[in-house]
Amino acid sequence: MAATKRILCVVGARPNFMKIAPIMRALRADDVPLEAVLLHTGQHYDDAMKRSFFEQLDIPEPDIDLEVGSGSHAVQTAQIMQRFEPVLDEHRPDMVLVVGDVNSTIACALVAVKKGIPIVHVEAGLRSGDRGMPEEINRILTDQLSDLLFTTERSAHANLHKEGIAEERIRFAGNVMIDTLRHNLDKATPAAQTLPEGIQAGESYGLLTLHRPSNVDDPAVLGRLLETLAEISQTVPLVFPVHPRTRQRIHDAGLDGLLATTRIFTLPPLGYLEMLGLMKDARVVLTDSGGIQEETTALGVPCITLRENTERPITVNEGTNTVVGTSPEKILASFRDVMSTGGKAGRVPEYWDGHAAERIAKVLVDWLGAGEAARHAAG
Ligand code: UD1
Repeated sequence: MAATKRILCVVGARPNFMKIAPIMRALRADDVPLEAVLLHTGQHYDDAMKRSFFEQLDIPEPDIDLEVGSGSHAVQTAQIMQRFEPVLDEHRPDMVLVVGDVNSTIACALVAVKKGIPIVHVEAGLRSGDRGMPEEINRILTDQLSDLLFTTERSAHANLHKEGIAEERIRFAGNVMIDTLRHNLDKATPAAQTLPEGIQAGESYGLLTLHRPSNVDDPAVLGRLLETLAEISQTVPLVFPVHPRTRQRIHDAGLDGLLATTRIFTLPPLGYLEMLGLMKDARVVLTDSGGIQEETTALGVPCITLRENTERPITVNEGTNTVVGTSPEKILASFRDVMSTGGKAGRVPEYWDGHAAERIAKVLVDWLGAGEAARHAAG
């Protein structure tokens, strides 16, 4: 009798959680003949960065938690690798599934490939062209190691071909992050419940996030950005849920005082439903996040990206995103444009339809021959 095929799914950091939620749901659906095991590396561990996402997004409790926690890139990656290897020996999955571009993604892929276990990468082929970004290194290497690569936009296929990855390994699935957005839109927390006291009911506001090392690690860059954002906040108040690393950098750079004098209102990191509620009603979103560029495009909300590049060009070519970099003049010009025109109209990209994870599950069943195994078992 053929055994049920087992797929081990890996999550580690906040942006992974909204990707894995629909994948686990699709893989554990009654009519999918696969066994899906969930592993959390522990890269993001505290309540604000992890627990609230598991609860709000109905992610099943991880079957395995490596509990690695924070550390330098080398330490974090090495610890995940060391702790992941015995898990593979014990659970013997037929495939390892990784998502996105965080340290947990590359660490687990690297261990699996050396053990001869096939790897599937969800959100493959995105490239910013900027090798100074740790995520870019993680993307390139994970794609090289993967047997099956699911993409969110067609531009990713050309990137993968350039790197020698054959078309037959690539599948266009759409965007699992947008599966989560569509699944939860009705449950989003009304903005009024999250907005800080300094913003009146009904007043327009902007939503701000910042956490990329290139924006927050250098006190001069961070200071200049916050001064520009302070100027914007005189026109539209900004709500700023602050990532832990950014909170630390603002403090280290002695910039707490600057923030206190502006209409930038800081909040602790928010849960998914609170963030979604704020995003959908924002007049404008200013961010250096990858996922938020996609979510604003899906929601039709204007997005100003405070980076020199994007690995998600479809959000610019079809969506509501404008990549402006970090020069004060460009940020202010783009902001004024959004205020006067309402921003780009945009349209929702192909297959950002809420069904990407189901498409992925179907391909995995075929790829692993799991349907056949189940039929054998039944017969
Ligand atoms: C990671 C990802 C990044 C993603 C981001 C989203 C990599 C290379 N980067 O960056 O792609 O956009 O997550 O959040 O994997 N910390 C806490 N609590 C936690 C986790 C972290 O306080 O639960 C603090 C620690 O001080 C830690 C710092 O945040 O040192 C950074 O965390 P880390 O996972 O190293 O990287 P991120 O900057 O979050």
